[in-house]
Amino acid sequence: MQKIVLAENSPLLRSDFIFGVATAAFQIEGAAESREPCIWDTFCAEPGRIRDGSDGLVACDHLNRWRDDIELISSLGVDAYRFSVAWGRVIRADGSVNQAGLQFYLDLLAALEARQIKAFVTLYHWDLPQYLQDKGGWLNRETAYRFAEYAEVVSQAFGDKVYSYATLNEPFCSAYLGYEAGIHAPGEQNRQHGRQAAHHLLLAHGLALQVLRRNCPQALNGIVLNFSPCFAATEAKADQQAAWLADQYHNQWYLQPLLEGSYPDLSAYLAPAELPQIAEGDLQIIAQPLDFLGINYYTRTVFTAGKDGWFHDIKPTQPPLTDMGWEIYPQGLTEILLQLHQRYPLPPVYITENGAAMVDQLVEGEVQDTDRLAYYQSHLVATEQAIAAGVNVRGYFAWSLLDNFEWAEGYAKRFGIVYVDYASQQRIVKASGRALQQLWQSRK
Ligand code: FCB
Repeated sequence: MQKIVLAENSPLLRSDFIFGVATAAFQIEGAAESREPCIWDTFCAEPGRIRDGSDGLVACDHLNRWRDDIELISSLGVDAYRFSVAWGRVIRADGSVNQAGLQFYLDLLAALEARQIKAFVTLYHWDLPQYLQDKGGWLNRETAYRFAEYAEVVSQAFGDKVYSYATLNEPFCSAYLGYEAGIHAPGEQNRQHGRQAAHHLLLAHGLALQVLRRNCPQALNGIVLNFSPCFAATEAKADQQAAWLADQYHNQWYLQPLLEGSYPDLSAYLAPAELPQIAEGDLQIIAQPLDFLGINYYTRTVFTAGKDGWFHDIKPTQPPLTDMGWEIYPQGLTEILLQLHQRYPLPPVYITENGAAMVDQLVEGEVQDTDRLAYYQSHLVATEQAIAAGVNVRGYFAWSLLDNFEWAEGYAKRFGIVYVDYASQQRIVKASGRALQQLWQSRK
């Protein structure tokens, strides 16, 4: 069996370093009939939006199989499980609380506690209730206040059963991919709307974080952002400038307001009508102290300058690539951690997602995903290197526990360390999962 090998004195092997696996509600739960519809249900129903025409109605049927899934998680030897709560499973369209929905998560939390697995709960992993989208979604400032109310209900019910709360997962994706690039729900293409949605998401974060701190002062309360170090395609000044602009627009736009209470000044690049509307006091609300910063990392991005003065990303064509077409670039994880560490006084960092989609073959009941295993090996070493250089990384979560609904890619892309046979809903631990399991169990 192929193994993951870390240095004997690796900081990742210390007993206080947290290893876990991650999932998100819409991607695994299914049981759509027992929650409110969300923007991803609507998006999936629109022809051409999802590559394989699929949806999240059944997904991994986790809502019915969660007990087995918790056993599976426990058998892997993890310290923690990161999952998200479906807003529309907890709050109904009329504003009332769905007790059965809340109970599902309470049962899950109790099962984790019984197995001494720390719960890392994300309140929002992209599944905005459609009833809020019908009122403008993240373009409506009121949505931020509805989010704080939802955070109130969840944090009062869960309390200290949760080790860590993240308000949002990757607001970049909700705002930019959802409202500006149009490839995620709700599928709009409008630059001002992208900026405005980002602002309302961050406002929602700031309002909810205050609620979390009040109700769950013992928990680690923070947010999860995705980062991709931005490279220039050539040495040319215009391309260097494009990479800088992309970094400001995609990365710093989300972190700078959280840590410094201001947005990058892009007034030279954005027309006044493209800038977000910001009410007085919003940035103070957004810049709440964070107990931790979750960082999701998959790949780097390379940019070139367009004639329009804007940045354009260049799709990688040279191997090594994952099945998503993303370049395998482990040193990018070290680089982005160091860049952020040098730029900001960072709170403790958790790598809340890292992993790869690969072309998996189920042969005689086994998946020999040595490519994914190598991805984990190299990215764990990259994490070690960042720690050695002074970044305070406290944990690492593999994305994902299970193959699942990969958003606009549907079920065709498999990110799991556990294979899911969707016809039978059978779970089969892949070779990468076995290797991680061995690493994690060896620490106990
Ligand atoms: C991240 C998402 C996660 C998953 C991975 C591959 O952007 O947070 O849900 O889809 O990408």
